[in-house]
Amino acid sequence: MCDSCEKKKTFYITTPIYYPSGNMHIGHTYTTVAADTMTRFKRLTGYDAYFLTGTDEHGQKIEEKAKEAGVTPKEFVDAIVAETKKLWQLMNIEYDDFIRTTDKRHEVIVQKIFRKFYEQGDIYKSEYEGMYCTPCESFWTPSQLIDKDGEKVCPDCGRPCKPMKEEGYFFRMSKYQDWLIDYIETHPDFIQPAARANEMLNNFLRPGLQDLCVSRTSFSWGVPVDFDPKHVVYVWIDALSNYITALGYGTDHDELMQKYWPADVHLVGKEIVRFHTIYWPIMLHALGLPLPKQVFGHGWLLFGGDKMSKSKGMVQYAQPIVARYGADALRYYLMREMPFGADGNYTNEAFLTRMNADLANDLGNLVSRTVAMIEKYFGGVVPAWTGEPDPETDAPLMRHCAALPGLVEEQMNKLQFGQALIEIWKVIGECNKYIDVTQPWVLGKDEAQKARLGNVLLVLAECVRFVAVLIGPFMPSTPERIFAQLGIADPALKTWESLGCFGALPAGLKVCKGEALFPRIDVKKELEALAGTPATKPAPQPRPEKKQEKKPELPEGCIAFGDFEKVKMCVARVCACEKVEKSDKLLKFDLDIGTEHRTVLSGVAKFHDPESLVGKNLILLKNLAPRKIMGIESQGMLLSSVQANPDGTETLRLLTADPIMAPGAEIG
Ligand code: MSP
Repeated sequence: MCDSCEKKKTFYITTPIYYPSGNMHIGHTYTTVAADTMTRFKRLTGYDAYFLTGTDEHGQKIEEKAKEAGVTPKEFVDAIVAETKKLWQLMNIEYDDFIRTTDKRHEVIVQKIFRKFYEQGDIYKSEYEGMYCTPCESFWTPSQLIDKDGEKVCPDCGRPCKPMKEEGYFFRMSKYQDWLIDYIETHPDFIQPAARANEMLNNFLRPGLQDLCVSRTSFSWGVPVDFDPKHVVYVWIDALSNYITALGYGTDHDELMQKYWPADVHLVGKEIVRFHTIYWPIMLHALGLPLPKQVFGHGWLLFGGDKMSKSKGMVQYAQPIVARYGADALRYYLMREMPFGADGNYTNEAFLTRMNADLANDLGNLVSRTVAMIEKYFGGVVPAWTGEPDPETDAPLMRHCAALPGLVEEQMNKLQFGQALIEIWKVIGECNKYIDVTQPWVLGKDEAQKARLGNVLLVLAECVRFVAVLIGPFMPSTPERIFAQLGIADPALKTWESLGCFGALPAGLKVCKGEALFPRIDVKKELEALAGTPATKPAPQPRPEKKQEKKPELPEGCIAFGDFEKVKMCVARVCACEKVEKSDKLLKFDLDIGTEHRTVLSGVAKFHDPESLVGKNLILLKNLAPRKIMGIESQGMLLSSVQANPDGTETLRLLTADPIMAPGAEIG
């Protein structure tokens, strides 16, 4: 509660709104589980928490996907949104609102915001005059183009660009640049982890912001600019606004806005930190609104060392895992496995191993041993406390457990979900050791030790109660199963406040041994079983059969888009480059591709000086099967362009990507 009033403190948390271009995989589930866990934790600790999620439904990509499926964009996204909501239910996600950018309530306010920007001079109409790469559908400034034999070519694909003039609306981002630099520098908590703040300052803000084109005329699936309807609002202006349109900003019913804005934290994946910490603050400032207190850029859940990608089929869905092991096990794994902020790999093996070690062995055994011993030695009734705690055994455990809520809260306030769980599991581990040291089975043989045995079991039962309350935000279904075994029905014993002092558990409760919380599993068998389940469950997307049958034949020499999608390319930064001994053709590259380093050989020695390539951003075809050349494994292929010259010689250049792009950035 606030000191001065009876009102609860508020906490507003958001996930990004997801593109419904296919079904959500465990990468999306990860962020949503994190937001749900945080919301539950804040509610447990007395906050009035508000949790918003939703879908980002406009844009060319969705328009194209719907066209491919032979349905309207709205029909297309409706089907995915229905699946998404089912998934969140399955994962026990309790959001307060689910906003869709196709909601009328959102669209009208986006139009209003756009108009306001225009009327106050933040947005101006102009003509885009620059170079345009048609295959990439991208505009480039002259400085971004690269020089290829006297011709200015696209920095992404190396193809020639042509001059283009197009009408568009532009946001004066540059006007706010100095203000934003100052804001970020004076608000160290605004962008977390802190390294991401430096990235934004050094890579984007200090080099200078360019005015941003915030309307499009090349497609129509978007929010029309109401005063110039041949334009639709740029998807990021549309999408970012969701965080306030959902609260009723700009309407007569903006009570939620009054209550919850500014947001306490926007959880976002690391690749969209830029939009949330540059465009979004500038938009808010231009609207005269305060900025969110924090934008936290978390890492990616990788699959086979790569970012999961619906379009590339490198993906793991939550449903088959939940069907076998329940949502709590998956939620636990997602929050425990990797520090929030860093990348981590998903593998079935790591998941199953952790389930056995942490859930079945550590937690499951503690609960079942505690309850079984109360049944065996005290007829199933929780014994009363007698005398003083033993200073060697009871007291340290009791002190540690009493301090646990504070330790967990400290980690949660830093969004360190994994660390919070580690703190809880330290107490679980200490309890299991305490059983080994106090040896209740020995005490149980000696009637004179009955009181001591009672104390030991009471300490254990109380620790289990603490653990049950504290794991609730992470694993919402598990606490009730533990409370049922301990015979705890009183809601007052399930609260954060009841953890204020150790020893609230009353004597006389009737315990009741139930099923194992998390039965031990045979990892090998389960791995086989999971391999047989559709882990990469294809998205059930609206595809009317009739239309599919009529798939047009491909013109000769063309490949289908799906074939192109199989090709995985990314930006690769050259960390080192040297000639391969005994070869006059080959150069050996050490390439940084964001998540790992690759060694790649390329036959370009005659055309490039190795030293001049260090630090350059090249383009790597990364899913080409590795092969050994002169005893060295080459892990991919660098793209280049070659031409025959009239004098019979050849010119070859490795293709480069814009230096602004981070290693690993996808190309496609
Ligand atoms: N629609 C935009 C966000 C607009 S927010 C105003 C978008 N959508 S997305 O569907 O592509 O991604 C949504 C979020 O899911 C991003 O934060 C992204 O990082 C996250 N994830 C997608 N795949 C992921 C993993 N494999 N691992 C962790 N998070 C991942 O961007």
